[in-house]
Amino acid sequence: MLLYGASGHAKVIISCLHASRTSVEAIFDDDLRKESLLTIPVIGPYQTDYESNAPLIVAVGDNAIRHRLTQTVRHPYGIAIHPSAQVDSSVQIGAGSVVLHGAILQADTRIGSHVIINTGASVDHDCAVGDFAHVAPGAVLCGGIRVETGALIGAGAVICPNLNIGKWAIVGAGAVVIRPVPDYAVVVGNPGRIIKLNKTA
Ligand SMILES: CC(C)(COP(=O)(O)OP(=O)(O)OC[C@H]1O[C@@H](n2cnc3c(N)ncnc32)[C@H](O)[C@@H]1OP(=O)(O)O)[C@@H](O)C(=O)NCCC(=O)NCCS
Repeated sequence: MLLYGASGHAKVIISCLHASRTSVEAIFDDDLRKESLLTIPVIGPYQTDYESNAPLIVAVGDNAIRHRLTQTVRHPYGIAIHPSAQVDSSVQIGAGSVVLHGAILQADTRIGSHVIINTGASVDHDCAVGDFAHVAPGAVLCGGIRVETGALIGAGAVICPNLNIGKWAIVGAGAVVIRPVPDYAVVVGNPGRIIKLNKTA
């Protein structure tokens, strides 16, 4: 595998890949001061003509930056699923996505491209998680939830069944969402309430 982004999130993806006996060949990063990450060479900015048979994952936690970086990538994308994740056989997972340690994906759920299902997150039956979304560590999506493109479900948040979380919305850490969340809304608390709009998307 090739990674793009030598961040803390990349360390977790490397751990995930190593656990599934997939080696990481090299990491691209725009920061020229970075030389290696967990002993893997960091080889500078992304090169469209870098010769390799390995697929690539954009290993950046920020949804908007991950989205921007994919616009330049020409290599095919890989997928990383930690062996401790429990993924029902009916689940579909798009290119460039990662399902990290201990995550659970239940029946008939669809995960888009370049999605992060982070450590210990739980996504129940019949959910749809859009491209570039991030379900952070320990978050819980009940059944039938739709998470639109680029939304962040913060660590430990709970989303009640059959709700829609709008594109590039942010659900704060620990929030309990009981109503649909509009596009770009930032929601915190229990019950979740909108405090502002996400202007970074
Ligand atoms: C919701 C969030 C995005 C807001 O961040 P921000 O835009 O920097 O907002 P601020 O820190 O200025 O907080 C704004 C207000 O919301 C409150 N607030 C922020 N996050 C909150 C949260 N998770 N739960 C409850 N209240 C929260 C603040 O106390 C503040 O209240 P005040 O105006 O009464 O003082 C952020 O706090 C958060 O929860 N991010 C999710 C992080 C996460 O889980 N990442 C995954 C990493 S793997």
